[in-house]
Amino acid sequence: MQKLIDQFGRKIDYLRISITDRCNLRCRYCMPAEGVKNKKHSEILTYEEIIKIVKTGIKMGIKKVRLTGGEPLVRENVEFLVSKLSSLGLEDLSMTSNAVLLSSKAESLKKAGLDRINISLDTLDREKFKKITRRDFLPKVLAGIEAAAAAELKPVKINMVVMKGINDDELLDFVDLSIKKELQLRFIEYMPLGGEAEAAKFISSREIKALIAEKYKLYPAFTKGNGPAEYFKIKGAAGTIGFISALSEHFCSSCNRLRLTADAKFKPCLAGEQEIKIKGMSSSKIESAYLKAIELKPACHQLDFKKQNYLRNMSQIGG
Ligand code: GTP
Ligand code: 5AD
Ligand code: SF4
Repeated sequence: MQKLIDQFGRKIDYLRISITDRCNLRCRYCMPAEGVKNKKHSEILTYEEIIKIVKTGIKMGIKKVRLTGGEPLVRENVEFLVSKLSSLGLEDLSMTSNAVLLSSKAESLKKAGLDRINISLDTLDREKFKKITRRDFLPKVLAGIEAAAAAELKPVKINMVVMKGINDDELLDFVDLSIKKELQLRFIEYMPLGGEAEAAKFISSREIKALIAEKYKLYPAFTKGNGPAEYFKIKGAAGTIGFISALSEHFCSSCNRLRLTADAKFKPCLAGEQEIKIKGMSSSKIESAYLKAIELKPACHQLDFKKQNYLRNMSQIGG
């Protein structure tokens, strides 16, 4: 039964669960150089608690679940959680990962019941990768992408956060990748959520699209549904390209999501300050917490480069 409808009439059927605040990269747009103080283990939701929260959510109208982090693959035995969740009858069970650990896990994740995966990749240049992520793992990530496709975790989506003066010179290299490989490549507007958020690095989807259109004709590919991306196809290409315009043409009016943080809080909005505690609750209390979270869902985010001190970094929300 769909009980999760907010005051603006939006149907909330998608839960994004951050299963850990830890990460094996240190992306500059996501967290400060020193990293973020990890939460204590006792504060983190156990797999059993997560399963209970999802079961209650399904009764109230949740149909899709995405596991995020930090980096979800650094949490031990994530396959166990995936297999439990995949037996609950969800329409879609997915993950967003940096793919550093994916090459050895893609097969077991698929077997456990993961439907598909979105992978963060901002550069194809090893030196630049080191600068952006402060780690030297590009070869591992590329191997992870291959493994995801081989394991049929499809569609494989690639998320590139575009930053002026950092990786905007690689837009056409990424387009070429989507021409050669069956990938859904998404160019994401840089959001000021933790890390070194600088307005000077922001490029709008419209500018990115115009740069690509100088070389390629873009044909609208498929309707965007409730997801944030708008997709296009280039003639003869194996994959597609998409644009996620979180700032310039935000998609808040059709938002269908609720977030659960690793330290047991519902977050009604990615960038909002509201949080609802949910640790150690009975099913009926969990149900009330869902309703409270939906009640507090704002009409739209208030992301702004002028405001720097957000409650959480992106790594503590999961995107
Ligand atoms: P699918 O479309 O279901 O494949 O997933 P997704 O694109 O929603 O998920 P993903 O984790 O790959 O996120 C891609 C980008 O969209 C990231 O930069 C997220 O931070 C951003 N994003 C996801 N959900 C929201 C949202 O509710 N609001 C805003 N502003 N950005 C979001
Ligand atoms: N702006 C836009 N996207 C971001 N992500 C992380 N930080 C930011 C940011 N500041 C993306 C990651 C990942 C997804 C969950 O969020 O690249 O793919
Ligand atoms: Fe880790 Fe993702 Fe943040 Fe990069 S963007 S530091 S991969 S959580």
